[in-house]
Amino acid sequence: MPCPSLRSKLPQVGTTIFSVMSALAAETGAVNLGQGFPDFACDPTLVDGVTRAMQQGFNQYPPMAGVPALREAVASKIEAMYARRYLATSEITITAGATQAILTAILAIVHTGDEVIVLEPCYDSYVPNIELAGGVPVRVPLTPGTFRPDFAKIAAAITPKTRAIIVNTPHNPSGTVWSAADMQQLEHLLAPTNVVLISDEVYEHMVFDGAAHQSAARFAALAERAFVVSSFGKTYHVTGWKVGYVAAPAEMTHEFRKVHQFNVFTVNTPMQHALAEFMAQPEPYLNLPSFYQQKRDLFRAGLAHTRFKLLPCEGTYFQCVDTSQINDLDEAAFCKWLTTDVGVAAIPLSAFYGNGFDQQVVRFCFAKKTETLQLALQKLQSL
Ligand SMILES: Cc1ncc(COP(=O)(O)O)c(C=O)c1O
Repeated sequence: MPCPSLRSKLPQVGTTIFSVMSALAAETGAVNLGQGFPDFACDPTLVDGVTRAMQQGFNQYPPMAGVPALREAVASKIEAMYARRYLATSEITITAGATQAILTAILAIVHTGDEVIVLEPCYDSYVPNIELAGGVPVRVPLTPGTFRPDFAKIAAAITPKTRAIIVNTPHNPSGTVWSAADMQQLEHLLAPTNVVLISDEVYEHMVFDGAAHQSAARFAALAERAFVVSSFGKTYHVTGWKVGYVAAPAEMTHEFRKVHQFNVFTVNTPMQHALAEFMAQPEPYLNLPSFYQQKRDLFRAGLAHTRFKLLPCEGTYFQCVDTSQINDLDEAAFCKWLTTDVGVAAIPLSAFYGNGFDQQVVRFCFAKKTETLQLALQKLQSL
């Protein structure tokens, strides 16, 4: 029997450049500064916490919305950081990473034909998520060169069909961070509309040079219309655990949970217990900015001795560089060449644009051990 012919729901989607570059890095033995994940261990207390939770018998389904102690810990953290109290019972949901939180939020609110604004360059799951929900992605560029939001362009993209806008700060891939004034402008822009804000804040604890993360939770009129999404994977160096959360007003959470319960239903139990316990100390996330700032500074100081032109890095663990002084290759070809011939993997920014817009800028991830960064720098300095 031939297998049934299928009409793809995501005809544009192929193998992502992240997988391609990681595979190429593995094949060639290149230093992988492409995909965004740490190459160092998490705090052993976390691993002990998971082991203990398993030994204590926390191995069955937790409540659908997540382990209550973890939801409480998240509510307390958000209140301490951003001065807004979410109710753990009805406004916080634990998710299988930020990826599932974003997909679930979109599936919960987007109907066929609804428009959802994304600001390009953007994280690669947003557009397929919108398409799976039957929505129409509306791509608005961040300002080329600076990657700052262009509020006139965003305003022009809002129509009666706009159901949501997805904002990501600190921003992957550019490393820009929205200011309080940016968030106020967004608040002002959305005020007369019925648009939901999906606020992707997975890098909330990676903001540098003494600046503060401007969570949507800080701004009352944004918080009232926002799904605020974060990721324990990013904050605690455990990307493979795939645990995140979403905070949203009760009515929005109610709709979110309807989809969540038939999507994953709930998230693995022992990790949640360990995270709840670990969150009792704020130091690990309070110290994260200085931890990553040191890595950023080391990496930038090394790159200063290369022909790459450095773009600013205000947050995240990504550093973008302009490659135009090195050669004329387009971004994708440059990354392949850099991996195979120089031995360092990077990601082309064109991968974050629907139309493959090329500006000769590539992204490095500096969430790496000092030795890894130094090895990569040695190779990059040979250029
Ligand atoms: C902007 C952004 N959003 C969401 C995610 C996904 O987070 P998680 O691993 O928790 O699903 C990532 C991961 O790279 C990201 O960079």
